[in-house]
Formats: sequence, structure tokens, C-alpha cells
Amino acid sequence: MPTKYWKVDASAGAGHPFIQEAGRMLKDGKTVAFPTETVYGLGADARSTSAVNHIFSAKGRPSDNPLIVHIAGTDQLGELVDDPGETALRLIEHFWPGPLTLVLPAKAGAVSPRVTAGLSTVAVRMPAHPVAQAIIAAAGCPVAAPSANRSGRPSPTLAAHVLDDLDGRIDGIVDGGPAGVGVESTVVEVAGSRAHILRPGGVTLAELRQVVSDVTVDETLLYAAADDSRIAAPRSPGMKYQHYAPQGAMTVVAGHSARRVIDWIQARLDEAKGRGEKTGVLTYEEHAHSYRADLVVPCGSVSDPASTARKLYGALRAFDHANITFIMAESCSEEGIGAAVMNRLLKAAGNRIVRI
Ligand code: TXA
Ligand code: MG
Repeated sequence: MPTKYWKVDASAGAGHPFIQEAGRMLKDGKTVAFPTETVYGLGADARSTSAVNHIFSAKGRPSDNPLIVHIAGTDQLGELVDDPGETALRLIEHFWPGPLTLVLPAKAGAVSPRVTAGLSTVAVRMPAHPVAQAIIAAAGCPVAAPSANRSGRPSPTLAAHVLDDLDGRIDGIVDGGPAGVGVESTVVEVAGSRAHILRPGGVTLAELRQVVSDVTVDETLLYAAADDSRIAAPRSPGMKYQHYAPQGAMTVVAGHSARRVIDWIQARLDEAKGRGEKTGVLTYEEHAHSYRADLVVPCGSVSDPASTARKLYGALRAFDHANITFIMAESCSEEGIGAAVMNRLLKAAGNRIVRI
């Protein structure tokens, strides 16, 4: 199918003719990709099983991995959830619109069972990006939208990434420039007075703790356990799949001394080069000059994890563009948004981490 392409300003509103057209297409059961403040999403009418089926087939997404439902205003929440409860309402008041997804008890029949993958809960998020809000409002329905990448690939932070993966497989794309945070929303399951983090993301643990006293982190996220096969079965179905992976074999390297990490990585790169591999390293602006490799990708500043988050997925895609077969990545601090960056790095590396 030909994919329609519309370029709009990042601040374009509901009155923009392209946004109106994109909204109409969603209403008609079509798939349209659009920017959010985290990554680009691939939207479809959450109530329509045939529309949602197009998302799964375009992405090649496993059918047991449920989708996040996006709304333009809190007035739409009542369509999806009977009673969000006090804790969720407090989180909503503080973090919506924004990069926080809440897993809540679903109202029966509100969305296609394909969206929830048969679970009794539904994941809901109200994005802060003006273009996303305007498109959802123009569609006039709850919009199911996973990240707009082929399943397993890094999430898209530019319209060009979406077209690389999905051109000809979706009905349209609204290009509103770069997405904001660069990694996806934080997914939180609310149970009574407790908020349980299923996926780290744009809203940090510390920010959540300022609003809810009982915040827990799913044990599958603790990377100390990453190479422990006894870790519990993932509670968020999406967490069991390999994600964000470049085609080359990637290893994350962690250590207290930056000098030692750099020297250790350089030695592995030199060995790999000797074996005929095409080598790449994911590093920081401050360390980039220290490496010799076929591709050195500086990913933000070592002192600013938010800059690393913004650049991470584009950086992972760069290795594929250069056909890199062997990748070493410096780890990052797990403070703040760094927790989400480290989670994605480990997934991209299939949990291969070396501590030196
Ligand atoms: O930032 C984001 O959240 C982006 C933008 C486009 O909004 N969307 C996104 O969607 O990352 P996706 O499909 O790539 O990730 C959705 C995650 C998956 O890990 C999925 O398993 C989880 O949310 N999820 C969805 N519904 C769930 C549910 N009812 N219970 C537990 N986890 C759920
Ligand atoms: Mg995704």
C-alpha cells in the first residue's frame, strides 16, 4: 500500500488540514504513525479489531503483546476504565499529559480484545505532544499505538526511522520532527495504594515516589539478575521479547573506571577487527576520540543521561546502516532517566553485560 506522508510543525494543532486528514483516516480504520513526546507511535482505532490487526501485521508483532491505548483528554478515561482508583487519579493529576502509562482494570468491551491480548487490564496513556493530542482528538476515538517500528527493532525517534521500517506497510505518517524524551513511557501497574513499575521510561522512579509513597520495581528489571535464568516470568508481556536490537552482536561494558572500560573495549575491538569483523562502539561525546573502530557513535554526554536517552535509538540504528557486526557499548548510570536507558541497552544486547 502507498504510505501517505504529511509534514507538520511540532506545534501543529487540531485545525491543521493534515491533522484533520490523519484523524479521518484513523476514524476510517486505517493505520497512521505520529510523533509523541517519547517515540513515534503507530495508531489505529482501539475499538476496531480489523484496524488493530493492521498494526500487528505491519509491525510483525506477536499477538500476545498488548497495546497502549492513547487518549487526548482525561474525559476519555471513563470509556476505558470503570474505576481507576485513588492512586491512579493522583498519578494522572501529576503526570498527564506525559510519558506515564497506567495499567488499569479494563471496562468490558471498551476496546478490541486484540488490544489487551485478552488480559483484564488495559494500558492507558495521554501523550503530551501537541501533534499526538491533536490527531487523537481529530480521530474522536481511543487510539491504540505501539512504537512505530518493525517488531524487535529500535523504536523510532524520527519519521525517517518509521519509513525505514514501515514504508508501504501503513496508511500514513505525520512527520512532526524529532520525538522528545527518546525512550518510551514508564509503564506502571496500579494495585491499591501501590504503583508497580513494569517498564522504566520517561517518568523516573524518583518522580513517582514524590507522588506515591509505595512504588516498587518489577524484579525482571533489576539488571543484576539479568543473567539469572531463574528470574520471574515477565508481568508485562512485552518484556519477554528481544527488543531494540541492532543486527550486530552487542555487549554492554560496565566498570567504575572510565579509563579501564575504554582500554578493555578497545582491546576487544582490535581482536574482533583481527577476526574480520566490522566493529562499532557506542560511547559518549567525551570518550569518542579515544576509540578506533569502523564506527564510533557518540550518544550524548556522560554527565547528561537525558541527552543519551534522546540519541539512543538513532545511535542503535546507525550500526545497522553501516553493517556493523560487532558492537561494544559503554554502560550508563542508572540514576533518573538512566534507568530506562540501561534497560533498553541491556535488551538491545540480549542481556550480555561484562563488568570489569
Ligand atoms: O512511549 C510509549 O509508551 C510509546 C508511544 C508510542 O506512546 N508506545 C509504546 O508502545 O512503547 P509499545 O507497544 O511499544 O509498548 C507497550 C508496552 C509493552 O511492553 C506491553 O507489553 C505493555 O506496554 N502493556 C500493554 N498493555 C499492557 C497490560 N494490560 N498489562 C501489562 N503490560 C501492558
Ligand atoms: Mg515498542
